Formats: sequence, structure tokens, C-alpha cells
Amino acid sequence: MSLRVGVIGAGHIGNIHLQAYRECSDVEIVAVCDQDMPKATSRAGTFGATAYSSLEEMLGSADLGAVSVCTAGVENGSHHFEPVMQCLRAGVSTLCEKPLSNSIVEARAMVAEAQARGVAFGCDLNHRFSPQADRAQDWMADGSIGTPLLSNVTLWLGNPNDATPWFHLRALHPHSLDLMRLFCGRAVKVQAFFNRAPKADSPDGKRVCWSNAQINVLFENGSIGHLTGSYDANSLLNLERTEVMGTEGRFVIDNAYERATLYPRISNELTVVPNLLFAGLKTFDDTINRRIKRWVQQVIEGAAPNDIEASGADGLAVQEIIEAAIASWEGDCVVAVQNG
Ligand SMILES: NC(=O)c1ccc[n+]([C@@H]2O[C@H](COP(=O)([O-])OP(=O)(O)OC[C@H]3O[C@@H](n4cnc5c(N)ncnc54)[C@H](O)[C@@H]3O)[C@@H](O)[C@H]2O)c1
Repeated sequence: MSLRVGVIGAGHIGNIHLQAYRECSDVEIVAVCDQDMPKATSRAGTFGATAYSSLEEMLGSADLGAVSVCTAGVENGSHHFEPVMQCLRAGVSTLCEKPLSNSIVEARAMVAEAQARGVAFGCDLNHRFSPQADRAQDWMADGSIGTPLLSNVTLWLGNPNDATPWFHLRALHPHSLDLMRLFCGRAVKVQAFFNRAPKADSPDGKRVCWSNAQINVLFENGSIGHLTGSYDANSLLNLERTEVMGTEGRFVIDNAYERATLYPRISNELTVVPNLLFAGLKTFDDTINRRIKRWVQQVIEGAAPNDIEASGADGLAVQEIIEAAIASWEGDCVVAVQNG
């Protein structure tokens, strides 16, 4: 029997989730919900589903096995809370876009609700779902890297959105911090510096948004990481670089999925895993496809909530680190992270 899926929020990313679900042979897309009914109707028509403007009605009639919450809001996260809580209370496996919320209090409540009800709760931390990140995880597991010592992640793009001071941090860096946690584990301390790029037509001559970030992270395993983030870069040429060095070797993932390279410590022979021309990822959105395929597979297999990859708890942990980074800058200090 196929998994009956609904998507809430029929914007740009909701459409990408729908396309990804359509590619899963064991999924039936049965419902699309958007508070903007014409939008819901148009998307539902494309995917052969029923359109809803009321989530309550959708949950009451569509008999869903899983949903994606692809709403947005302030800092791309303030609209997720209500629909996520409704779906979790209805016992439906829920995949939420990042950030879980722009409010850490709401994000904590979502994860607590999922845990209390034993419902699968995932976060669309799609950057870890590339073949190159998979291979890097193999290198971590097979001893090629050894004990992790250092990590460097850069995630930068060009985004002029200046809606709030912490838009860049909260909307973008769940992804980069998730990569750091994936390879280095729990974060325990954070120290951050930020600046705002010049902007000619603003009152103080600078962007509202803290558009550049340099963040140091101490992990529970003793390794030390650095994150460079920016909304003032040219993302068409460079987007993301992930590097982890350990006692036995080092890997670098260039441009998210372009190439992963293993540099052994005691040999000069490299292992290179490129994105394959015909069988590889065609665009960055394919990382969302791979993330959703894994989500569908885990829901169908009945994976325990704690075993969901890129879980809601992971989505919360990266937000805890982001809030600690903000507190570090505002308090001019190193900040301990609870549950990072
Ligand atoms: N994972 C990624 O790589 C990635 C990339 C970009 C954006 N995103 C995330 O995707 C999310 C959506 O982004 P977007 O650009 O598609 O936003 P969008 O504004 O285009 O779409 C959001 C839609 O949700 C609808 N909506 C809001 N509240 C609703 C509610 N309570 N019930 C039903 N519908 C509701 C809106 O009407 C709108 O159509 C954001 O959280 C963003 O951070 C993720």
C-alpha cells in the first residue's frame, strides 16, 4: 500500500517537495493545503490531489500517512509552528522545512510534542543528503579520518533580504551547522563575530541584517570547528565547502555535491568522488529529492522517531547553536550550548 502524503504550503519549496514525492513510486500525493486557495487548487491540480485551504479539514478527511510543512513567515520559519503542531497532534509523520521556527521556544515545543506522542518528525536539512556527504560519512566511519580534530564549513550566497537582523543566521545556517554536527557531533560552546555589509540607501549606511558571520564551535568530542557564512557572496560560483580533519586524514566537499576528496595523512594518493555527469545530481534541488526519498523510506519502514535522519531534534539542535552564537555576539562572550 502506498504512503498517502499531503503538502502544506504550496509555494516554491512546497512545489519542490511535491515533485520529489511524485518521483517516489510508493507515494500517493493526496492533498495540498495553502491558505491561498487558488494556489492550493493550482498545485493540487498539477499533482492530481485534493486542494484545501483549511488544514483541519485536510487532516480530518485525507487519511494521511505523512506531510511536509513548507510554509515560511518571518525569518522563513514563523508560520511552521501551528501546522506542525496540528499534524503532530493528529499523529501524522511530519517533515518540516528549516528553520523549524524562528523562535527557539516554539522549536523546542515542536520537538517535545513529537517526542511525547512518539510521532516521526523530520527537518529538511537537505544539504547532508548528497552522495558526496554520504561518502564522507563512510570515511568518518571506516577510520579514514580518524579522531576528528578540526572542521571548517563555508556557506555563502547572495541574498539582499534585509527583513530582520538575524534573517541570515536563522534562515540559512541550520544547513551549515547541521553538516558540522553530522560529522563532529554535539556542540557545547560557541563564540561568534558578525558584521553588516555597506548599503547606500539605509539609515546608517549598512544592511539591517548581520550578513557576514564567523563562528567558532567546540564540540563535545573535543574537536573544534569554524563556520564562515555570508549573504553578500556570489552563490552561482561558490556555495558551500565542508572540511573535516582528523588524526588519520582530511576530507573536503566542494560546492555541496560537486566533489568530495579524501586526503590521507600518510599517503599522497587522493580519493576523489565527483558528481557524475549522467548519474549525479543535476541541480541543488536534487538534494531535497534525496532527502525526501529517505524520509519516505524511513516512514514506510516504520523507523523509530529517534532514528529519523535529519530529525526535528537535529533541526532544534542547530537552532540552539544559532541562538548561542547570537548571544555570544550580543554578550561579547563564549556561550555554552544546551542540547547542541
Ligand atoms: N531546504 C532548502 O534548501 C530550502 C530552500 C529555500 C527555502 N526553504 C524553506 O522552505 C520554506 C518555504 O519557502 P518558500 O520560498 O516556498 O515560501 P513561500 O512564501 O513561497 O510559500 C509558503 C506558502 O505557505 C502558505 N502558508 C503560510 N501559512 C500557511 C498555513 N498556516 N496553512 C497553509 N498554507 C500556509 C503561503 O500562503 C505560501 O503559499 C521556508 O521555511 C524556507 O526556509 C528551504
